[in-house]
Amino acid sequence: MPSFDTLPSADGLWTGLTRLDGQPCAIAVQDGRIAWTGAPDAVPTECADLPGHAGQGALVTPGLVDCHTHLVYGGQRANEFAMRLAGASYEEVAKAGGGIVSSVRATRAASEDELFASASARLRSLLAEGVCAIEIKSGYGLALAHERKQLRVARRLAAAHGVTVRTTFLGAHALPPEFEGRSQDYTDLVCREMLPALHAEGLVDAVDVFCERIAFSLAETEQVFQAAQALSIPVKLHAEQLSDMGGAALAARYGALSCDHIEHLSPEGVAAMAAAGTVAVLLPGAYYTLRDTQLPPIAALRAAGVPMAVSTDHNPGTSPALSLLLMANMACTLFRLTVPEAIAGITVHAAHALGLQDSHGAIAAGRPANFVLWDLQDAAELAYWFGQRPVRAVVRQGRIAEG
Ligand code: NIG
Ligand code: FE
Repeated sequence: MPSFDTLPSADGLWTGLTRLDGQPCAIAVQDGRIAWTGAPDAVPTECADLPGHAGQGALVTPGLVDCHTHLVYGGQRANEFAMRLAGASYEEVAKAGGGIVSSVRATRAASEDELFASASARLRSLLAEGVCAIEIKSGYGLALAHERKQLRVARRLAAAHGVTVRTTFLGAHALPPEFEGRSQDYTDLVCREMLPALHAEGLVDAVDVFCERIAFSLAETEQVFQAAQALSIPVKLHAEQLSDMGGAALAARYGALSCDHIEHLSPEGVAAMAAAGTVAVLLPGAYYTLRDTQLPPIAALRAAGVPMAVSTDHNPGTSPALSLLLMANMACTLFRLTVPEAIAGITVHAAHALGLQDSHGAIAAGRPANFVLWDLQDAAELAYWFGQRPVRAVVRQGRIAEG
């Protein structure tokens, strides 16, 4: 793979593009940023003489944003896939010593370079499909040194691949085996030692908790949120995935960027998220893998005006997915999102879920040049095909990264 620095510059005037609404468009890129975008017959004189890039009618979208991933981990968990096929539930697998804790063992055993190599390979799949910004969580280390290792790998991935990475500290993902029966002690460690240390090292852009009966209680979740708030770090939450814990309403009280999964979200949770401007992150890959039947309350979220994002939730247990377009397809097919909702879910609303709404998720003057040219005629095709990669070119951080 060529290093990011050696990729060709995207500076110039991109013409022959078609917007999602079917209108022709042009984009001027200067110094790696979008200098102007608009109708091809309205190119400002100062952009008219820039070197040309011919889009040849390609559909253009903002760079995709994958706003919920657990991309950095050791090993894989295909054995659990087999166990679940034989009838075991996610909770039963976890109780039998599998689940998150088995990835913790493999992640602790892996070196930083090994984690970087395996996560790079996975990241390349996402990037080739047009991802320009991605969230990467820790949560498979569950001890300071190993959480640090994961977050350092996330930072290295950003630099090596020229992609915007937002790191999320998910120390409260599962109880590490050495803390068995001592959940409060571990929560104290997360809040008093791990989070402050990792924050001081500049490794934490947001804080997340898995609030669930097989993970952390509502009170423990609030304790972690308070620790984050004391350091002015935004929070997000794995909320109401397997049961209604009231986590979304709590997260909304802390001004959470997003609540994610939310299959069991209550009407009160919807109202609290709407009032707080918290994004609902839908994760159809986990829903599909777990053969869940409880649908997230899409109609209520829509009616309340809660922005809905869609993400891969890439992780080795419940969503070994490496295609954001497939998630858009599933969000439509399984969750009944409309195609425009699904596209907004992997662009503008996903950016919002990461606090990146001013720089990512839309094609607008002044932003870093992140956009994708697709070999498609119709916007609906983005969510219609699955298993192919209809990318013609990806402009990522001002460089032509694919195509
Ligand atoms: O987002 N829900 C908790 N965390 C992950 C699963 C992690 C795992 O099983 O390794 C999720 O689905
Ligand atoms: Fe997750």
